[in-house]
Amino acid sequence: MDTAKVIEALNKAVALEHAASIQYKQHALLVRGLWRKVFADFFFSESRSAQEHAYKFGHKIAALGGVPTIEVGTVHQSLDVRRCYNRISTWNGRPCRPITRRIPWPRMT
Ligand SMILES: [Fe+2]
Repeated sequence: MDTAKVIEALNKAVALEHAASIQYKQHALLVRGLWRKVFADFFFSESRSAQEHAYKFGHKIAALGGVPTIEVGTVHQSLDVRRCYNRISTWNGRPCRPITRRIPWPRMT
């Protein structure tokens, strides 16, 4: 096992989780409208999950003798809940099933 490569890969995951944590929290704070409560609670819960994931990955890095990154990936801002949902419910342009299954976009009929 190439420990340096494993640490590098884990640090990329930590940076993504840091970004996700901030992104979700910002979405929770900015979401507006009729569905505010539903989406704010969902985004905040996801923020906490991402924080926990970053912490777990950081422990693995430390156990391997590395230093967990404090870098944060790109964070976006939007007041449009649909845009926030779309941003977190896709990965590389494809639907992220764990997200869309937990909280499907509400049908307005
Ligand atoms: Fe995660």
